[in-house]
Amino acid sequence: MEQNLAEFCRILPKLELHAHLNGSLSNQTIKELHKTSGKPSTEDNDHWKSWEKITNQIEGHSLEECFQLFNITQSLTSHPAAVFKATQDVIQEFANDGVIYLELRSTPREVPGVMSKLEYIKTIAEAILNSSCQGILVKLIVSLDRRQGKQVAEENLDLVLNVRHQYPDIIVGTDLSGDPNKGNIDDYLPVLERARSLGLKLAVHCAEIPNQEEVMKILQLKPERLGHATCIHPEFGGSETLWIKLLQWEIPVEICLTSNVRCKTVPSYAAHHLERVIASKHPMTLATDDKGVFNTTLSQEYRIAAECFSLSKEDLYDLSLASVEYAFCTELEKMKMKDMFSHWKKRYLSL
Ligand code: IMP
Ligand code: ZN
Repeated sequence: MEQNLAEFCRILPKLELHAHLNGSLSNQTIKELHKTSGKPSTEDNDHWKSWEKITNQIEGHSLEECFQLFNITQSLTSHPAAVFKATQDVIQEFANDGVIYLELRSTPREVPGVMSKLEYIKTIAEAILNSSCQGILVKLIVSLDRRQGKQVAEENLDLVLNVRHQYPDIIVGTDLSGDPNKGNIDDYLPVLERARSLGLKLAVHCAEIPNQEEVMKILQLKPERLGHATCIHPEFGGSETLWIKLLQWEIPVEICLTSNVRCKTVPSYAAHHLERVIASKHPMTLATDDKGVFNTTLSQEYRIAAECFSLSKEDLYDLSLASVEYAFCTELEKMKMKDMFSHWKKRYLSL
């Protein structure tokens, strides 16, 4: 059964390990949330206009502009019903794109008088638990925002620990994210260590911009996964020492091609550090980061990787299968996914 590359990438079972909830909302969800928001329409319309204008800019935006975009979707997911719908829509859209395992991440957010941080996290977990979407397993990673300071990070971790026992199969890890130009890593290392000591897995955004001292501290933490890992190789603003440490410690990296191109942290797909990662056979997974903001899908990321780095369909299959090892799920869940992959291979890839 021969499919064209785009269709192959869509039907290929895939794992999405790096997706921020509020960056993943589709235009459809945004329109629906906007319609039912019942808020003063001028403000929402302004948000909506700038949203459409900016996400349609194929040439991309600065990192700063990208971060402004998150405020727009966050203004719509400002009450529990909207958070619930947003979560379920995103799950359905990933499933429609052939994603069999999704780790959604989101930063606890409160809206005074409307929604507490606890309600925010619980609503996402409930939306996952009650999703009627078939064929996709979903987990939640709670993000700590490097712009919010160590006290908020500690409070957010306490919150996760309080609620985790209610959703032991869903809440699996912690992420450090937010504008890489802001915040001091030293403020967040202790809270990440504490999260780990209490059984949460760590995914840390790392080296989105050059910062050798910070990157070394993150590598030394040895998180289970790194997000982006852009400026680690010496040719990408890192250093030989950092690159060697990354390879030596075999920390899997979450590669977000379109996100990096659109935020202009890499000049083009062809000049992306994925080439170095592939050449070194370093563990990695492809991810969308923010499929709404960057107007992409996971299958599109697979197709772009194949076209830019001459990957065969077998390479794509192997790459997707390898992602199972890096997922924050149980060994039994991993075994079931691997089983599913081998059935799929027999049907679609028998050589
Ligand atoms: P949320 O946490 O669900 O509200 O998703 C949006 C948030 O994710 C943003 O406000 C950022 O803190 C974070 N985020 C999304 N994409 C990136 C990225 O590429 N680098 C760092 N942080 C990001
Ligand atoms: Zn990210």
